Amino acid sequence: MYVSDLALDDFRSYDELVLALEPGVTAFIGPNGQGKTNLVEAIAYLSTFSSHRVAADAALVRQGTTGAVVRAKVVHGERPSVVELEIVAGKANRARLNRTAVRTREALGVVRTVVFAPEDLELVKGDPGSRRRFLDDLVVLLTPRLAALRSEYDKVLRQRVALLKSAGAARRRGGREDSGTLEVWDAQLADVGAQLVAARAEVVRLLRPHVAAAYEQVSSGQGPARIDYRASIDVVDEVPDPDTALLGDPGEAGDSARATVDEREKALRDTTAVRDRLLAAMGRLREKEIERGVALVGPHRDDLALTLGTLPARGFASHGESWSYALALRLGSYQVLREDDTSPWGPDGEPVLILDDVFAELDSRRRARLAELVAASQQVLITAAVAEDVPDGLAGARFDVRDGAVTRV
Ligand SMILES: Nc1ncnc2c1ncn2[C@@H]1O[C@H](COP(=O)(O)OP(=O)(O)O)[C@@H](O)[C@H]1O
Ligand SMILES: [Mg+2]
Repeated sequence: MYVSDLALDDFRSYDELVLALEPGVTAFIGPNGQGKTNLVEAIAYLSTFSSHRVAADAALVRQGTTGAVVRAKVVHGERPSVVELEIVAGKANRARLNRTAVRTREALGVVRTVVFAPEDLELVKGDPGSRRRFLDDLVVLLTPRLAALRSEYDKVLRQRVALLKSAGAARRRGGREDSGTLEVWDAQLADVGAQLVAARAEVVRLLRPHVAAAYEQVSSGQGPARIDYRASIDVVDEVPDPDTALLGDPGEAGDSARATVDEREKALRDTTAVRDRLLAAMGRLREKEIERGVALVGPHRDDLALTLGTLPARGFASHGESWSYALALRLGSYQVLREDDTSPWGPDGEPVLILDDVFAELDSRRRARLAELVAASQQVLITAAVAEDVPDGLAGARFDVRDGAVTRV
């Protein structure tokens, strides 16, 4: 798919912007702070209804105004759709699809994007939270109806943690906690949590070969890159040595260790089994959880383990390797989406690829490899401070971005 038209009202630094786009490569060039990222952020927002830069939508609304509108016409195969989102700070978004008001979740999945940006170094170097979000975003891009699952899980988790804390407080006052209510929330958490775990484990299975291949293509030799879902349920279920088992290198660890990891992953895709294991684990951990006021097991404690050769990427990979790994995760997502033909919007699942200010960060070899990899994509949007940052192989449309004006050059 590709975006053929974009219109912004009061989004970030733009009061009003109307832009016609084409398939193929488009580069937005301009000095820092001129609105290049704001522009691609708007397109990316339409695919996840969240920003890759900020957690709160308030920052997306132009200062001094109360709401922003992002509208895009996208073309799947031959079929155009117009999706429009109104972002009102502190309130729920309003969506329109082909000029008709719809529930926001009905507009999710129309636009697919994959963004690679400097912030993505966090995927490798940062906390598990960023990797969980990476997986969840891909889950939702593939299966938009699962967006509800994620928000439902957050809600259940908050309720359960509040209850654990009040049970702890009641106990410290010498009273008794209401264990019946807690059990209700245990069941809810296990139910929704198991579906989330299964969806993530499936996405990891789909991603794995693509991430390994992309890493090999953009890196300079260190590898292979191997990703594994590391579930807190496996850790608390006291597998003999969860750390080494999950981080083991497929080459060195041998077939039996590899088989264990693969079996474990398969088990995580069994929703009923995971639900039962989560329930049992919460039963066992009940005392500890009440004491500490923390939910110790569930998808909110899971991680995506990134291995390079025999070592975890986090803490061991060099800066360049971390960059390559982050890029491989994004290119891997891109390939998974491209191969996916389950979208209700038709078989053209290929997302818009957005490369925000990344060429300047790559050495010339990686730059050239990336350019080769993306040259044939249906639509690639690139931002760069200077035209020289965009590799020669990526000829296409150029826009100058300056003082909030976006001009075709
Ligand atoms: N909500 C907002 N209202 C007004 N201006 C904003 C808002 N959010 C960001 N900006 C402005 O946008 C500019 C940054 O734009 P950005 O697209 O990130 O630049 P770049 O071209 O370097 O990618 C900054 O000058 C910032 O002040
Ligand atoms: Mg920028």
